[in-house]
Amino acid sequence: MTANVDKFTTVIELQDVHYQIPSDSEVLDIIKACNLSVQSKEIIAIVGRSGSGKSTLLSLMAGLESPSSGNVNLLGHTLNHCSEDERAQIRAQQVGFIFQNFQLMPSMTALENILMPLELFEIENAQEKALQALKQVGLENRAHHRPAELSGGEQQRVAIARAFVTKPKVLFADEPTGNLDEETAAQIQDLLFELNRTIKTTLIVVTHDLEFAQRCQKSYHLSNGHLLEQITTEATHA
Ligand SMILES: Nc1ncnc2c1ncn2[C@@H]1O[C@H](COP(=O)(O)OP(=O)(O)OP(=O)(O)O)[C@@H](O)[C@H]1O
Ligand SMILES: [Mg+2]
Repeated sequence: MTANVDKFTTVIELQDVHYQIPSDSEVLDIIKACNLSVQSKEIIAIVGRSGSGKSTLLSLMAGLESPSSGNVNLLGHTLNHCSEDERAQIRAQQVGFIFQNFQLMPSMTALENILMPLELFEIENAQEKALQALKQVGLENRAHHRPAELSGGEQQRVAIARAFVTKPKVLFADEPTGNLDEETAAQIQDLLFELNRTIKTTLIVVTHDLEFAQRCQKSYHLSNGHLLEQITTEATHA
């Protein structure tokens, strides 16, 4: 499946999206009537309390979950009309996802984890690109360590490198600095903003760090299943 995102200025569109989870005795309304439009190259922050549905919302935007009702459009594709395989292909070719729990392959080294998406698409100079990505997250000396031999913050940085090494059109980042000290977190924020400037990646960032959210162009608050845009000061990353 090919899609030329340059044709689209709207990269993500949510229309009246609801997401319910059947529970023992009741149905849980996690996401209620969410509408959102993200333009190409925008940087969007999503904040909200633990359990408010931020990770769920990212999964819906990336087509990892399907809404109970409503429409999700990603990179010109109406995801409701796509098969599981088509959605996987869109994600693999054009989307990067930094999972809150990293989801690294435990049997692979840091370098092998980053090489994986490059090798999948037979991208040239994969080794060189993977090493460069490791260097960008400050882990060039941990290339041959497996996830279990890395600290939580180091695993998070491998997950970040794996997500951006393919130069995705859209990068979903679920609390990408949640496990990092202040200085490393600031470096990772700078790196994400640099990716936005240099390779024009649209960024959707979930964070509990309100200063990070303020550096983004727009900030949305997810509360009680509803997504509300917050008034932020002028973005400072540019
Ligand atoms: N499979 C499931 N079954 C039942 N409830 C679920 C399931 N998955 C998620 N939930 C519930 O959905 C709600 C939203 O979860 P989600 O992980 O999206 O929250 P979050 O905002 O990302 O939280 P955090 O900031 O802690 O990461 C939570 O109340 C959670 O308990
Ligand atoms: Mg979460």
